[in-house]
This record gives sequence, structure tokens and C-alpha cells, in this order.
Amino acid sequence: MDKTAKSLTKGSPMTRRRFLHLTGAALGSAGVLNVLNAWGQNAMDGLTEPPKWDGNGNGTKVIVIGTGAGGCPAAYELINLGYDVTIIEARDRVGGHVWTIRGGSSGEEYGKGVQTCDWPEGFWWDAGPSRVPFYHNGFFHYCRELNVPLIDHKNLNLNGWVYAENVDGELNATKIRLHEMQADMGGYTSQYLAQALDQNALDEPLSEEDLEHWKSYLINWGILNANDLTYRKSDHRGFAVLPDVHSPGTINDPYPLRDLLPFADSIMQAAGGYLAATATFDWQTTMVKPKGGMDALYDVAFREFFGDRLHLNSPVTKINQTPDDVTVTYTDSETSEPVEITGDYVMCNIPLSALLKVSVNFDEPMKTAIRSVPYAMALRMGIGFKRRFWEEDDWIYGGQSFTNISQLGILGYPDDNYLSEGGVMLGMYNFGTNAAYVSSMPYDARAQLALSLGSKVHPQMKDEFISAFSVAWHLEPYSLGAWPSFTAESREQVMPILQEPDGRIYLVGEHLSNVNAWMEGAVQAAWMQVDKLHTRVMQS
Ligand code: ALA
Repeated sequence: MDKTAKSLTKGSPMTRRRFLHLTGAALGSAGVLNVLNAWGQNAMDGLTEPPKWDGNGNGTKVIVIGTGAGGCPAAYELINLGYDVTIIEARDRVGGHVWTIRGGSSGEEYGKGVQTCDWPEGFWWDAGPSRVPFYHNGFFHYCRELNVPLIDHKNLNLNGWVYAENVDGELNATKIRLHEMQADMGGYTSQYLAQALDQNALDEPLSEEDLEHWKSYLINWGILNANDLTYRKSDHRGFAVLPDVHSPGTINDPYPLRDLLPFADSIMQAAGGYLAATATFDWQTTMVKPKGGMDALYDVAFREFFGDRLHLNSPVTKINQTPDDVTVTYTDSETSEPVEITGDYVMCNIPLSALLKVSVNFDEPMKTAIRSVPYAMALRMGIGFKRRFWEEDDWIYGGQSFTNISQLGILGYPDDNYLSEGGVMLGMYNFGTNAAYVSSMPYDARAQLALSLGSKVHPQMKDEFISAFSVAWHLEPYSLGAWPSFTAESREQVMPILQEPDGRIYLVGEHLSNVNAWMEGAVQAAWMQVDKLHTRVMQS
């Protein structure tokens, strides 16, 4: 235990509950969550590469269905272990939820007709997974293995905008820079806490030593005046007029706390909590992604590796297993006729939401488990613009802006090719009932809504608009949901069933893990299922 931790537990200790209460009072619930996350962080022992397997599959036939984030690593490992692998994919591309949109990309949501992207050459945007936390080592393992170059994904850029409406105070329906909000909220929070500490106003006072450390920390964190512990204007919150050769610049006063509080509180609660999340473990300020789009790993690297083992445009309609083998029926893309292939085992990467539509002779417990997992609704929209006004006019190079408009959510900016001609912005990201509402509209109406809401932050949007491409994951025929929504109870009930083979069929995907809504969950599940299958084959 270090000196500070020890001193916090002796004398008149500040309990963890009390600290949370105090911090919660000052920072709001997001602050409490961040503090909890910091406490929960231990040394990490996760699997960073596949287990080292002995033995060879010797041509045992495995049919891998679905090339999402679980199917790809499962097929890759099985091929390397000497299995005879056939890969069946319903779509015309490898990746499942991983879908990088470019000019020419096309899709058809249920009841919405065909949507085709007409962005110019060089524009790209990830409709599904778009950012990878630093500890998703399984994902990084395959990027290393298959030579996929990575770049930073800026999750937090303090020069992004924050916009809140329907809030009390003078900041209602205005946009301010995130660095202003962060500096002012950090400053005021530090001021009030430092003054409370200074006046011994805590009901469970700290030791003298703790008090000094904490006060000093707050003075430095909140940029307080060390003499009177007040937060005052400084260049840390930015300039109204930039310094140059003639002048040191002009600095505005902080926003009055009574105006800032309702604004900042609303922003922290809004947009899926994604601003609050930039101080947490998963969504840290700097994340990572493949250069040029997430499909560099899936639709390029894995696809090339699979070669002619891969059958695209082949939706599976039936899986029938006997004690001796398993037969998969899919629709042939060219003839539209059903085709049957038989193998020894199946590794099935179809999301549970879509698997419900396939006829499979699972046992009853597996059927019940699959039916018990609802999937989340989420809609994301990429908007192509003629000009990078967010860089040229607003000086925002990568990162996100945050709004409390629940139909709009967050805006995201490209992290590459700065100052090039035009580019794609994440122009809408919403969930639940907002996603349901927006997805009920035709593609064009969704885009008009995004432009009209987004113009509150970027008035340039309408003039610079080329076209939009939106993906409502719950309406995508082979996904039927963004990610599984487990409760603690449902997870406890169904996970032991989903993770075990049903006869000759092994499921694979992030729905077999605790790392939901991330590709890493699927990679870890693939390693677990390949391990089980290979152990069984080696023992038989
Ligand atoms: N992992 C998803 C995201 O980062 C949900 O938005």
C-alpha cells in the first residue's frame, strides 16, 4: 500500500462511500462512475493470443457460418490447425457488423429499399465497429499477424463542440468548446472541494497530510489560485482572441456556474454517456483503428487468407445435424437454388437475433437460450461533405462533438487525411427508441433530420452536403440488432448453454462473452470454441 492510500485509512478515515457521496455531489453521476472505474482497475491477465494447440485436425470438415468478428478468427485458427474449412457468408462481403462504407457500398434494410453510397474516391466511414480500446489484444493479435496498419482513433478532442438545448441558464441552445466546459467545470469543482477541505467542512475530516495532498492536487487539476483557492480565468480554458506577435491574446471569463451546471450536467447524461466515458477504461481519449477502415482486417486480410474456401452471397436457411454429421443448406447466389453441404462440425457466427430465423435442430435448452437474448437498436449515419469545414473553419482535427439532442447523439470527425478535400463525418449515432424512431424514416428523411439537427452545431452542413449513408443495425437483415442486451440474470442463465456445443454445432460471437458490443468479445469466444472443438477432435 502506498503512503497516500495508507494515510487515507488511518486516523479519521474518509470512507469510500463518503468519498463517492462527496464527489457525486460535485461532479454528478458521471464523476461517480469514473471514480468507480478507476477503483475497479486491476492488473489484467486476459488472453492476448490464441492458446498454443498441439495436434492437427487432419482434414476434419468444419463449416464456418458467418464472417463476423468471431467467425473470421475461428476459421483462421481452424485452417491453420489442418481442418478442412468451408466458410459460408450471407452478405457480399466479409465482416458482419464490421462494415466500412465507401462510394459504391450498397445495402437494403428491411422495408427500406436499396441504399447506395455515392461518395467520391478516398472517402470512407465505419458503420459498425469504429474504435478499439487498448486492451483488446485479440484484435491486435490479428492485425499483427495479417499486417494491418493501425492509426489513432481520437476519442476526445477538447476542441470539439458541446451543444445542449432545453436546459436552464444562459447557455441554453448554444455551442461552446469542450475545453471551456472541461476547464470551467474542473475549476469550479476543484474550488468548492478545495474550500470545503480548507474549512474542514467534511463530516469525516481527513488527516493533515491527506488534506495537503488533496488540496495541492485540486489546485493543480482545477488551475486554482493557490492563495484563495478560487477558480479564475486563464488561458487553459482557451482564448477569445489568439495570442500573436502583437498581443498576448484575450481570455474570456469562465461561464457563470449557474449557467454552466445545467448545461454540463445535461451533456454528461446525454449521447449515451459517451463524453463521460472518455475518462473511463474502454473509451479512453486515445483509441486505435485500422488505417483506411475496419474492413482492412476483415474484408481484405481475412478474405484474402480464406481464398476459395469462402462462399459469399450464400444465406443459410437450415442446419441439420445427425449423430454422425451436420448438413448446412444455403441459397446459391447465382442460381438462387438451395445447396447442401455436409461436414463434421459447424462453427456458427450468426447473431442470436438472426439465428432465430434459421431452421436448426437444436435441443430445447439451446432454443430457449437463443430466444432469451434481446438485441439492442442503434443507428449510425456517415455524411459525406464537399469541404472539411470542421477542420478549416472550426479547427477540429479528429475526435467528437457532443450534443444533448437524443435523436442526433454525437458527431465524429475523421482522424486521417487532415485538410484534404472533403470527407465523412459521423453525423448521427443514436440508440433505443431514438434509433427506432429515426430508422422508421426513409433514408433521405433520416439524412434531412441529421442535417437539420447537426446544423445547430455546424451551420455549414447543408451547403457542404454530398450525401449520407445510414445503417439501422436492427433493420439489417443478417444482424437484426446492434449487440445483445444481457441482464445479470439472463447472462447467468443462458451463457453456460450458449458456450457449450449443441451436438456438432458450436456457436461463436461476442454473445458468448462478457465483452459485449466489442469485436474483442468475439475473438475471445472464437479462441474458446476452437479450443473446445479441437480438444474433442483430438480425443475422438
Ligand atoms: N462499442 C460501441 C461503441 O464504441 C458500442 O460505440
